[in-house]
Amino acid sequence: MSRLPIAVIGAGLIGMTHIDRALKSPDVKLAGIADPTPAAADFARSIGVPCFPDYQSLLAATQPKGVIVATPNVTHAQITVDCLERGAAVLVEKPIADTLADGRRICEASRATGLPVLVGHQRRHNPIMRKAKAIVAAGTLGRPVSATVMCTWLKPRDYFDVAWRREPGGGPILINLIHDIDLMRHLYGEIDSVQALASSAVRGFGVEDTAVVALRFRSGALGTVTVSDTAAAPWNWDLAAGEAERFPRQDINAHFYSGTEGSLTLPRLEVWRYRQDQGPAQGWHDPLTMERTALHIGCPYTEQIRHFAALIEGHEAPVCSAQDGFRTLEATLAVTQAAKTGSAVSLPA
Ligand SMILES: NC(=O)c1ccc[n+]([C@@H]2O[C@H](COP(=O)([O-])OP(=O)(O)OC[C@H]3O[C@@H](n4cnc5c(N)ncnc54)[C@H](O)[C@@H]3O)[C@@H](O)[C@H]2O)c1
Repeated sequence: MSRLPIAVIGAGLIGMTHIDRALKSPDVKLAGIADPTPAAADFARSIGVPCFPDYQSLLAATQPKGVIVATPNVTHAQITVDCLERGAAVLVEKPIADTLADGRRICEASRATGLPVLVGHQRRHNPIMRKAKAIVAAGTLGRPVSATVMCTWLKPRDYFDVAWRREPGGGPILINLIHDIDLMRHLYGEIDSVQALASSAVRGFGVEDTAVVALRFRSGALGTVTVSDTAAAPWNWDLAAGEAERFPRQDINAHFYSGTEGSLTLPRLEVWRYRQDQGPAQGWHDPLTMERTALHIGCPYTEQIRHFAALIEGHEAPVCSAQDGFRTLEATLAVTQAAKTGSAVSLPA
């Protein structure tokens, strides 16, 4: 199979990860990059790939079949819609957009052009999550009861030298919690309503540094999430799952899913159940067993690119479609609203 020509718009922190994975991919060929910075132009020259200061010139000159949009959130909708209208499928970084109106624009453009959009919730492509999804889908946990999720860590002081990270919208709810909410939706289905408290007591910035969230799933299951970027703590997906080399991996769990028949911890993939060979369990007096699946570590960004190529070819359906990414954004923005108003926020059916 010949490699599909793709382009990357935005060669910043995460754009460089996509570029690296695209260069190593047997499925795609990097046709070009768009980014206005001299650093991006220098880098593109060093790898022999054309670089354009504006994305319209990139699209016109390279005519890619797929585009990875890795620019700031506020630009996602316009760039994604323009790419779709020029006939390219899009992998847009998370969040799909920074407002619901812009998220809808992307969903509508995908529908109107018939071209797929994949939202960059890369954790769904992690082999750990694939296995977790299979365990839950097989009914191993029985009826979902609760999800308890931790997203606590310490961002270094200089992280906040950038002004937007100190202002509303730049905090751990939209940057980090959105990934956890996406995983919770992926495993337990749609969220019905959310309640939340947020605090900026430690850093004193205009944006939250800590939040606690209670949510109700459509199934009736309940969930809680604690998110903080000012806690000297290891309990979060990034450190526990070891998805990025820049974080020291910790062999711990950060997510706990419980059901009427069993429970699942992540990312260690431990399934806790009553023994299956001694008849129906009576309850907490009986011994529990724990079975752990040990998987090969896989890079979710590499797998995401492979999937993107398969999506462009029409061989696979999107693991996280525009509509799916929109629902995750909707639930995450509801957390901010619930924290602000002190009231529960119901999500549309
Ligand atoms: N999936 C993840 O885990 C993850 C991690 C980090 C960031 N992100 C998301 O990726 C996006 C980018 O974040 P980042 O941290 O890489 O930001 P960044 O600031 O490091 O990089 C953004 C790049 O986009 C370029 N850019 C801005 N406007 C442009 C335009 N109109 N055309 C072309 N290039 C343009 C900038 O010059 C910059 O190089 C955000 O949406 C963010 O939420 C996702």
